[in-house]
Amino acid sequence: MEQLSVDHLLGIKYLNEEDIQLIFKTADHFKEVINRPIKKVPSLRDITIANLFFENSTRTKLSFQLAEKRLSADVINFSASQSSVKKGETLIDTVNNILAMKVDVVVMRHPNPGAALFLSKNVDACIINAGDGTHEHPSQALLDAYYIKEKLGDLKGKKIAIVGDILHSRVALSNIYALKMLGAEVQICGPKSLIPKHIDALGVSVSTDLMQTLKWCDAVNMLRVQNERMDLNYFPSTREYAQLYGLNAQKLASLKKEIVLLHPGPINRGVEITSDVADSKNAIILDQVENGVAIRMAIIYLLVAKLNIPST
Ligand code: NCD
Repeated sequence: MEQLSVDHLLGIKYLNEEDIQLIFKTADHFKEVINRPIKKVPSLRDITIANLFFENSTRTKLSFQLAEKRLSADVINFSASQSSVKKGETLIDTVNNILAMKVDVVVMRHPNPGAALFLSKNVDACIINAGDGTHEHPSQALLDAYYIKEKLGDLKGKKIAIVGDILHSRVALSNIYALKMLGAEVQICGPKSLIPKHIDALGVSVSTDLMQTLKWCDAVNMLRVQNERMDLNYFPSTREYAQLYGLNAQKLASLKKEIVLLHPGPINRGVEITSDVADSKNAIILDQVENGVAIRMAIIYLLVAKLNIPST
């Protein structure tokens, strides 16, 4: 059986192109499975997975949970807001307590960049990063790239734009790594204050003009303005941001071409995209839910295959 080159999914940075293609191929299979009348497969019947969410999440958490259940794993869920973390327990102590319950895989979202890598070095389980602060969000980037590939075919030479709050977005960095690895040309666009210095070192072009970027691209990923991570005012007002960097039906129509539109959710309606665009036929936000489950099933399945668990 083909295998991933990694034992954990900590970030796209640690994968290679073959890994991504293998995840996509496996997701194709699981997408077919979840559309059958019986949506479950027994693949992970002896596996226990803990979902540890130290930061809020709706869709990523539900999508991982559903993926695990469709694979017949036993699942335990933990959210920091209801736990002893509030009493001062350290990350390693919390996780080791959970691992004492014989957990094989940990899916973790954490506000600190590097938390998943740290955990992988300190505890004995397979770690899947479900978002570590402003750093990486690999499963989101994989499902974004999978969706673009579904719409546009092979990504080699395709022009993909990532627009908005690049500075605070883990989706942006993981997307840049994944899209570049698959041979796409990537342009990022946003107000200068929300674009990290030296980002061009990642091999992307940079623009501050949304219309020019939209004319250039085949697909655009509109990122959320991450207000919860902003300790300063990065732009004068939300209204000005929406005017300059928000996508509305009029801007889309003026392009006179179809572009693929993505948004990882949750949307700030009227800021990055207006409701008419979010609710239009172009909106892929809900299509992405099915892809999200299939991609996460593939990630978990392929990582568990590397665990060397003796079969019963
Ligand atoms: C993203 C996240 O949490 O980083 N959302 C998600 O995973 N669905 C993007 C965001 O919060 O804007």
